[in-house]
Amino acid sequence: MRTLCIDIGGTAIKGNVLDLAGAPLAERVRIETPRPAVPADVLATAVEVARRLGEFDRISCGFPGVVEGGVVHTAPNLDGDWAGYKLAADLELRLGKPCRAANDADVHGLAVIESKGVELVLTLGTGMGSGLYTDGRCVWNLELGHHPFNGDETYEDRVDDAVRKKIGNKKWRRRVRAVVDQLAPIFNYRRLYLGGGNSARLDPADLPENVTIVDNRAGIAGGLKL
Ligand code: BGC
Repeated sequence: MRTLCIDIGGTAIKGNVLDLAGAPLAERVRIETPRPAVPADVLATAVEVARRLGEFDRISCGFPGVVEGGVVHTAPNLDGDWAGYKLAADLELRLGKPCRAANDADVHGLAVIESKGVELVLTLGTGMGSGLYTDGRCVWNLELGHHPFNGDETYEDRVDDAVRKKIGNKKWRRRVRAVVDQLAPIFNYRRLYLGGGNSARLDPADLPENVTIVDNRAGIAGGLKL
């Protein structure tokens, strides 16, 4: 059983084929997200990622927005009209294999959680994603990134990639810590995981003991769990 795992992001579309144990069966493929990131072009790029990876039996896709039953509701960091887009059905049609699609942060977390108690995942990339799990079950589509924080701003406005580039890594790290300190007494998670493309810029020494920095490759590995 070969699972094609696709991670659609605001910056790049990544993919690999994994066996049932999670071992990669190909070299990871990464293609920049076309801009404007309208459905037709993003899907064509996802298909190109698949084409470069060879054979697979089923498909799993993480998407940077709210996804319910394989259908997209929102895509804040992409362009064009995604509401109502039948993402899983479209990938099935284009690639000829069964597909599941879900929110990218939810998928990311599936690769790293211990499935014990309350676990929270934040992905720090183009946007800020969030995934909440209780004893391993995902509370799908938690959108913490768009919760107000600091006056007129949201969590995502405070720590997304555009702002990191503007204020620099040092200030950005302090902001991430402020987000963690705000969320800890609200969610009372057993463990928090910080992933996404920018997690490698964090320093574990700046973070509380129950916070783990995870590799962005979880976006692919989580696809197998989905
Ligand atoms: C979206 C989330 C997504 C996150 C990371 C946010 O803007 O609302 O659904 O998980 O970006 O891609």
